[in-house]
Amino acid sequence: MGMPDGFVWGVASASYQVEGAAAEGGRSPSVWDEFSRTPGKVFEGHTGDVACGSYHRIDEDVGLIAGLGATGYRLSIAWPRVMPDGTGAFNEEGLSYYDRLIDALLARGVDPWVTLYHWDMPACLQHRDGWLNPESPKWFAEYTAAVVDRLSDRITHWFTLNEPQIFLGLGLNEGTHAPGLKLTRKQVLLATHHALLAHGHSAQVIRARAKKPSQIGCAPVGNLKSPASDAPADVEAARAETFRVPEKGWTFNYTWYCDPMLRGHYPEDGLRLFGDDAPEASEEDMRTIHQPMDFFGVNIYSSDLVDAGPDGQPRTVQRGPGYPMTMFRWPVQPDALYWGPRFLQERYKLPVVITENGLASMDWVHADGKIHDPGRIDFLTRYLHQLRRAIDDGVDVRGYFQWSIMDNFEWAEGYALRFGLVYMDYQTGERIPKDSYHWYRSVIASNGRDLAQTPAPLR
Ligand code: FCB
Repeated sequence: MGMPDGFVWGVASASYQVEGAAAEGGRSPSVWDEFSRTPGKVFEGHTGDVACGSYHRIDEDVGLIAGLGATGYRLSIAWPRVMPDGTGAFNEEGLSYYDRLIDALLARGVDPWVTLYHWDMPACLQHRDGWLNPESPKWFAEYTAAVVDRLSDRITHWFTLNEPQIFLGLGLNEGTHAPGLKLTRKQVLLATHHALLAHGHSAQVIRARAKKPSQIGCAPVGNLKSPASDAPADVEAARAETFRVPEKGWTFNYTWYCDPMLRGHYPEDGLRLFGDDAPEASEEDMRTIHQPMDFFGVNIYSSDLVDAGPDGQPRTVQRGPGYPMTMFRWPVQPDALYWGPRFLQERYKLPVVITENGLASMDWVHADGKIHDPGRIDFLTRYLHQLRRAIDDGVDVRGYFQWSIMDNFEWAEGYALRFGLVYMDYQTGERIPKDSYHWYRSVIASNGRDLAQTPAPLR
């Protein structure tokens, strides 16, 4: 048995990571242009100036996506390309790039799923305090309107924000992502409140102005936990921990972001933890943030292990030395794609779409001229097997977007880590499909039928 009818097989990318052409077509600098130019911030001073050069290679890239047989492509729109001043006038040249990209995808039978914000805020808005500015939700609504007015005759799937946990947590709290700030907890939570309001306003704008019925979601990430065993007490412990706002690493959680969006209020444990640092949130604010959503998009790469300790209290289970991990040092934990969709659907009661999942490695051209990446094939086989198991157990999963169609600018890691199904020669711009590209094409062609076989256990 394969995946359900209509299951979307996709690949994903994001504007700053692939487009390049940073100073072309009227695009203004984003926070990532400024951050990557700050010495010591990105591996070996890499920037997205050129990246994969996708801005100039629409036909080639769409050919690779369509060549997989993919039915969906998750791409993001660069705010500074579309609205170089952050607000006000839109830039025709920027919008026309997305017009052409979307038309090329549709002509090849690939449905574009558009993320409005994948971290590239116009730098001029950051100079006005970015998400800390109470006007920021309005800026985002204005930008959304320009995009929707132009593209919603063809786009029906929208994401507002990609991983607010990361652009707020790493960007404003830890300073390791753009714009590289280390604000107080109170300030970060205020900026978070504004980003959540931006999500709400943006969803309202899409519903009000879209020319076609729209499906709207978000693409969060969070501190997902897998139970150390199938024992009900361990499952309960993992569920409880997954939905807790932790003291340490408090920006990295699901509920502080998703509860307001989908349940209309901040979670109690977070309010207790943050005390006076929590933002003042009027009822009207909460109504704005709480917009109807059509699916729960989520990026899942790994999870921690949790069990119910002797006293029944959730306990993190340390992995033994030598456990399998990716080049990002993220544990390989395939059942994250089982427990994640299951827990998240139970809590938020929406169909689930996996908006990102993939493996970081350091591939190179092998002696035979090909790029062999058996680790990626094994990783994706194991994760997709678990996703299938979730579907077999009744979880409503509508699609899967592999990260990423091609190697690209991996934020603070620069070009050191490769996530692609297609290898990028950054010197020449040549794209070379890896073994995993051909493998994924056959998985898609069989609608995942080959994934039924149970893989040998990891150890
Ligand atoms: C996610 C980001 C995405 C990509 C992957 C590896 O956090 O959303 O842009 O970099 O990680």
